[in-house]
Amino acid sequence: MNRLIVVSNRVTLAQPSSAGGLAIALSAALAQRGGLWMGWSGQQTDDKSPAPLAISTVGKITYALTDLTQKDLEEYYQGFANRVLWPICHYRLDLAEYERKEMSGYFRVNRFFAERLASLVQEGDLVWVHDYHLIPLAAELRRAGLRNRLGFFLHIPWPPPDVFFAMPVHAEILKSLCSYDVVGFQTKYDVENFLGCLHRSGLARHVGGIITTTEGKSLRVGAYPIGIDTARFSTLAAQSATSRPLRKAAESLRGRDLIVGADRLDYSKGITQRIDAFERFIRSEKHMQGKVTYLQITPKSRSEVPEYEAMQRVVAEQAGRVNGELGTLDWVPIRYINRSVPHNLLSGLYRLSKVGLVTPLRDGMNLVAKEYVAAQSEDDPGVLVLSAFAGAARELDGAIKVNPYDVEGIAQALSTALTMSLEERRERWRSMYDHLLEHDVQHWCEWFLDDLEVPPLQ
Ligand code: G6P
Repeated sequence: MNRLIVVSNRVTLAQPSSAGGLAIALSAALAQRGGLWMGWSGQQTDDKSPAPLAISTVGKITYALTDLTQKDLEEYYQGFANRVLWPICHYRLDLAEYERKEMSGYFRVNRFFAERLASLVQEGDLVWVHDYHLIPLAAELRRAGLRNRLGFFLHIPWPPPDVFFAMPVHAEILKSLCSYDVVGFQTKYDVENFLGCLHRSGLARHVGGIITTTEGKSLRVGAYPIGIDTARFSTLAAQSATSRPLRKAAESLRGRDLIVGADRLDYSKGITQRIDAFERFIRSEKHMQGKVTYLQITPKSRSEVPEYEAMQRVVAEQAGRVNGELGTLDWVPIRYINRSVPHNLLSGLYRLSKVGLVTPLRDGMNLVAKEYVAAQSEDDPGVLVLSAFAGAARELDGAIKVNPYDVEGIAQALSTALTMSLEERRERWRSMYDHLLEHDVQHWCEWFLDDLEVPPLQ
């Protein structure tokens, strides 16, 4: 088997608690197959040029981590990646802030990653690059003379051409993607959008499963929806449900139904619309007042980026206002936790709840939705209320699908979920759980790597 090298901006050494879906999925995928994982150490250095890569091995994974300078982080991570690519890919042209300095910082840091990585790559290694921070990596690696098979997977959505083309340097970004051998997306809608962009830019001659670029190179493009470690998460939830912290949490509910939401604090997650919907639900269904608790767990995220900092205040104020207006002496409608909760506790909370409320305005996949399903027991499964605009909605047919902008619709879905019969809940849950067992993170990993290993027919 060829050695696998995974490259991503975010790397986690231990089982993550507040990490996003990418780090969780990659830890699970690499833990089984083993390999090298290169990325940012999470540390900022004051030196002008960071120290050599820090190499360490834990289990089957060798980590190669690099610090980044403050300037690098400002321009590449907080700047172009999170103030241009992230909003654009989430259809938020209104939030994109272009700065030429940051764009060139983004390409510079990718070159820096490529130089450091090139010294580690051996013949036959498969290199698998992840997410929007590192799109230009393949072009830089090719420039450094690497001939290995190079794959790229985008964890976030790919927008339609009209949105994408509003971004300066869109041509460079698209061209960079053509340097890979395989480019994978979460859903076939993302693939369609990407192919639309290639067509319009004239960068690809022929479009089918395999594409020939104008430079005569073939490129495989496909949808590889990411999975989770379903069996492991299910066991974790069963164990966690009987743990002391979970028993205490259950007692504190005093028989009230629990609705749970868990998202990084991000404008793409639809948190404010969701709180509005919960408020509308308890105002309109008065008999539910005092009978239901909504727990929203929202770790801080990317706080150096102004849009995220602003949101921090908005959500805290909103939750406080609802509690102030509707809470009573012995009932707090919304429990808002603005920090991370360990993954095992989270799994137990999902299992304890009646409803998982996952309503992003736009999401590549959303692994919380999948974890919520994996955490349920057949005896008494909770109901997933899921945004139609999350990649996960393409697979999870047993969820109640909602339009995340439709506050009234979400309120209605909450009512449906809380009154659903056990039989219907079981039926919906079973089909989703079986799907997730089969399409787990290992399956995803093998599927992508099989395609990466085999050169397409010319
Ligand atoms: C999303 C992205 C990941 C990212 C994660 C957490 O899941 O797709 O690439 O790692 O969010 O965001 P952060 O900026 O903390 O790495």
